Amino acid sequence: MGENLLEIKGLCKHFNLKKSIFEKNKKVLHAVDDVTLEIKKGETLGLVGESGCGKTTLGRTVVRLYEPTSGEIVYDNKNITNLNFQEMKSFRRKIQMIFQDPYASLNPRQTIGDIIKEPMEIHNLYEEKNRDKKVLEILELVGLNSSHMSRYPHEFSGGQRQRVGIARALACNPEFIVCDEPISALDVSIQAQIINTLEELQKKLGLTYLFIAHDLSMVKHISDRVGIMYLGKLVEISTSDEVYNTPLHPYTEALLSAIPIPDPDISSKKERIILEGDIPTPINPKGGCRFKSRCPKAFEKCEEIEPKLIEVRENHKVACHLYTNI
Ligand SMILES: Nc1ncnc2c1ncn2[C@@H]1O[C@H](COP(=O)(O)OP(=O)(O)O)[C@@H](O)[C@H]1O
Ligand SMILES: [Mg+2]
Repeated sequence: MGENLLEIKGLCKHFNLKKSIFEKNKKVLHAVDDVTLEIKKGETLGLVGESGCGKTTLGRTVVRLYEPTSGEIVYDNKNITNLNFQEMKSFRRKIQMIFQDPYASLNPRQTIGDIIKEPMEIHNLYEEKNRDKKVLEILELVGLNSSHMSRYPHEFSGGQRQRVGIARALACNPEFIVCDEPISALDVSIQAQIINTLEELQKKLGLTYLFIAHDLSMVKHISDRVGIMYLGKLVEISTSDEVYNTPLHPYTEALLSAIPIPDPDISSKKERIILEGDIPTPINPKGGCRFKSRCPKAFEKCEEIEPKLIEVRENHKVACHLYTNI
């Protein structure tokens, strides 16, 4: 696991919002702001942060469903930031996305067979006569079977529908999948099954994942490395073990303290960090650290200077003035 499959450099995705006639200044929502990270071939990078911090926007920009505002996306050593629709086609096959709400992303009027076959047709994969066989193979890979092929999405449970979502993503033989909170909408009892399926598929097919979640407990198991986002910024990134055992950013510490521990002895000793203060808006963000209004450890410098993401331990980067001595 050495080579990078995906590198994003200084990636920004800003949305221009409509302003009312009473407002003078342009309103720009900084959904993703200057994010730099890389994902190695075959690894799973977990991406965690509260709702609204820009995870989905980052995922959608990486798969080029959104045009980046600035920055670079390099996939398998090729800069895909400015490729046009036609040039993107071969990459679209390789880079797929699984969505949080499989029901909303599946066409209710198509049978499961047709839903999975569609990407094959779009990308002109496999001979037409072989496609049904291929669909069946994929259904079996994700834990479904031939009896499901002629059914419609509404006939399935949430977990099965997510399996269909995974099958559709696999239809065009991808290398890299952005999994956008694929288990958040599912019952707890089903979540582990879907995670297991995703892990088995990764092993069998050599896939690389960007796995998005809103809490750290979900990604611990599946991720090799974990990145933490706060209001459009990547604030910490390291191996899974480092982030769990030696968190550096006060926001990561707070997220970790919120994970329930099943053992009451440990649980009663653990201190839960409750974040106070307002969540600032991502519209026209002001200077300084974005976490300062809620940070229990904020000091003067945090008001004025935005901390940069720097490597403070081996393979462990953090953007926090507690670790900068300039
Ligand atoms: N198409 C859009 N137009 C304007 N603002 C958007 C759009 N999509 C997302 N946003 C805003 O960008 C921010 C990040 O959203 P999102 O990426 O969905 O966060 P997350 O997935 O972490 O919950 C939010 O403030 C959201 O309101
Ligand atoms: Mg989201």
